[in-house]
Amino acid sequence: MVQAAVMGYGVVGSGVVEVLMEHQSSIARRTKEEIGIKYILDIRDFPDSPFQEKFTKSFEDILNDDEVRVVAEVMGGVHPAYEFTRQLLERGKSVVTSNKELVATKGAELLKIAKEHNANYLFEASVGGGVPIIRPLSQCLAANDVIEIAGILNGTTNFILTKMIRENMSFEDALSMAQQLGYAERNPAADVEGQDAGRKISILASLVYGKHVYPQYVHTEGITKITLEDVAYAASWGGVIKLIGQVKRLDDDMLDITVEPMLIEKSSQLANVDDVFNGILVRGDSTGDVVFYGKGAGKLPTASAVVADIMDCVKHLNKRKYFDWADCDGSIIKPYEETVFPFYVRLQSSLSKQEVTEKITSLLLNAREIVRANAADNEYAFAVDEMTVADREKALAALTDSGIRVLSKIRIADL
Ligand code: HSE
Repeated sequence: MVQAAVMGYGVVGSGVVEVLMEHQSSIARRTKEEIGIKYILDIRDFPDSPFQEKFTKSFEDILNDDEVRVVAEVMGGVHPAYEFTRQLLERGKSVVTSNKELVATKGAELLKIAKEHNANYLFEASVGGGVPIIRPLSQCLAANDVIEIAGILNGTTNFILTKMIRENMSFEDALSMAQQLGYAERNPAADVEGQDAGRKISILASLVYGKHVYPQYVHTEGITKITLEDVAYAASWGGVIKLIGQVKRLDDDMLDITVEPMLIEKSSQLANVDDVFNGILVRGDSTGDVVFYGKGAGKLPTASAVVADIMDCVKHLNKRKYFDWADCDGSIIKPYEETVFPFYVRLQSSLSKQEVTEKITSLLLNAREIVRANAADNEYAFAVDEMTVADREKALAALTDSGIRVLSKIRIADL
């Protein structure tokens, strides 16, 4: 029997224990080894848990026990998860994790330590919850040059947007439902402000392009400024608003990487990815588009990916797996101001419609008006052809100077 430990008994940690216990015999059959849980680390008490004898509050119990070969770090946050993971890898223990914040901020370093100590650091659950994406990118699609990855990577915001689109529900009510269902982060600002999706696209970009794309290199916007008016204009335009994490390799080999709300056409494969589901589109030079779809958050989907990583580590106890990427100073990232894309803009003005139209057409490229039912008389919306962000901002500033208020601006995706 191979002994494992679980650090953190929250939503995901309790799911990991449940999945490992309930599937014990099928897991043993597939791994050719039984996997036991020797310790569960948590600072809290769980007096009603049937696993009383496994709980410990001491990390050293796990670190110093040579029987423990694989550890699931499902604590979340960078500290102390980083210090614990480092020490475990230095002792040659393999670590698996759902902790995207840690992988996104310290991945290059932890992978290097794992390599030096002939251990594995696996993180399938860090992106897409129960949706396989790390292994497909690093193995099944490895023969491709990946031109682009674009995904709905955050279940909470997708759940909120779906409620806004389908049920006209307020942002606050939808967020509180997502929290009750266990989708949201402890601090839901990480979901709604886009950082969670930013960490995930930074992990995917690092994996595919071989250089650590730290979250601070990712232009990040959340969904807090999206209104029901924008949702209605998107429908009139023929699409929906989704929070998209996207990385594209440009002709000059730089990366255009962003997390922001985007208008996507109804015909896009990502347009019907709703509720807590994630959808990730990978555009390979040989495969064309490949799409991964499934539950991106929640106890058991995420636990399923963590347990699969534990099994993989058990099967490769004395062998290294394939993950590796180098550190990077950000020089491969195209500054956001220089990126180019079409966009939607919603405006308000007391000028006449003719004056507004004249100003818009003189400043923005090929602006096409979008009309919605029940719009206020002084509200206008347009879809505009591609410009650099810097040029767009100059044009929008000129509109503001001429008495036209910019209420929203949202990228139009080519997905
Ligand atoms: N808060 C995250 C989400 C959990 O909503 O997608 C899964 O990473």
